Amino acid sequence: MNLTDLQQFFSGKRVFLTGHTGFKGAWLLLLLHHLGAEVKGYSLPTEHPEDLYNQLNGDQLCQSVEADMRDADRLRQELLAFRPDVVFHLAAQAFVRRSYRQPLDTFGANVMGTAHLLDALREAEYPVTTILITTDKVYENDERGTAFPETAPLGGYDPYSASKAAAEIVIDSYRRSFFHPDRYDQHQKNIVSMRAGNVIGGGDFSEDRLVPDLVRAIRNNEPVVLRNPQSVRPWQHVLEPLVAYLILAAHASGPSGLRYGTAYNIGPDRQDERTVLQVARQFYEAFGLSQEPIIQPDETLHEAQLLMLDNSKLKTATGWKPALTADEAIRWTARWYASAMPAPEKCALQINAYFDRIEATI
Ligand SMILES: NC(=O)c1ccc[n+]([C@@H]2O[C@H](COP(=O)([O-])OP(=O)(O)OC[C@H]3O[C@@H](n4cnc5c(N)ncnc54)[C@H](O)[C@@H]3O)[C@@H](O)[C@H]2O)c1
Repeated sequence: MNLTDLQQFFSGKRVFLTGHTGFKGAWLLLLLHHLGAEVKGYSLPTEHPEDLYNQLNGDQLCQSVEADMRDADRLRQELLAFRPDVVFHLAAQAFVRRSYRQPLDTFGANVMGTAHLLDALREAEYPVTTILITTDKVYENDERGTAFPETAPLGGYDPYSASKAAAEIVIDSYRRSFFHPDRYDQHQKNIVSMRAGNVIGGGDFSEDRLVPDLVRAIRNNEPVVLRNPQSVRPWQHVLEPLVAYLILAAHASGPSGLRYGTAYNIGPDRQDERTVLQVARQFYEAFGLSQEPIIQPDETLHEAQLLMLDNSKLKTATGWKPALTADEAIRWTARWYASAMPAPEKCALQINAYFDRIEATI
């Protein structure tokens, strides 16, 4: 599926996007805007003035609602008033370390927030395709180094991972109980969940994430501090999962899309897995710096060391494949932060380059 196919599908579509003020949400908002969709966003406000959503003037790109996923009535009202064709659910308390500090907020937003959204959809008496975003951390991780297929048991040690695994169970329950494919004529809903790996890309200024930590350290002329230098993660450029979400929404729509209504991993190919330390060193290199990170292991809060995903189900189902190598993803990310161009222009350049790359690999 290429840019033209996506434009044909999304042009004029009404898209309800939760988490539009977040890092991935802001990029997805821009993509949807480029594709001609009409977007209503539902999220908490941005946390930092520098957040990508603010730099993109996100309020000009959508109808923006600042509200909480835990407010079931408000969510139902905003969703049903908009009458969406497609829903992308990204809103979540998305930080592992914050989840240790605020477990109840995390479970409330991620588990009940997901249930509130699915429950509101029960009242929509028209076709809606819904893509719910969880994470690669939904699997019970025995750290044996095998790449998890979608059939691997769900689980989670820290509250963030557990909340996302629980959200997957909620999604599956709603799919089977209320949106069963055998009863599509009655409910007209297609429900997909996507488990993405760690994303990197320009415009992330969050706490406790590798790239924003590196950018802050470079700006302050200090070495970055790494807590888990040897942790292996399925890193990918932010455009990879976002374009996969769009592709899947297009495939999964309507009665012919019913067979896509399941869970998918989305991650890089195995040769593109990297440790935190490797990514940090490559990022410095892309900036033309020869800094070495400071290693300060943190034994107090458990985080998985090894995490790999099997991405073959999505490839077989849709023909999707990663368009960028890990090295390119790191270089594209560094280039974004190094450029003095306004954010809307540099994001648009990378979006165009990404679709050119897809075109070339079809
Ligand atoms: N960034 C990654 O590497 C990564 C990897 C895998 C999965 N994910 C998932 O992708 C989604 C987006 O991640 P992100 O990196 O953009 O995170 P982010 O923290 O940048 O954005 C989170 C968004 O959710 C909203 N939100 C948080 N709590 C809310 C609440 N109670 N009510 C309403 N809105 C709320 C925020 O306002 C924000 O818009 C999340 O579901 C996350 O779990 C992210």
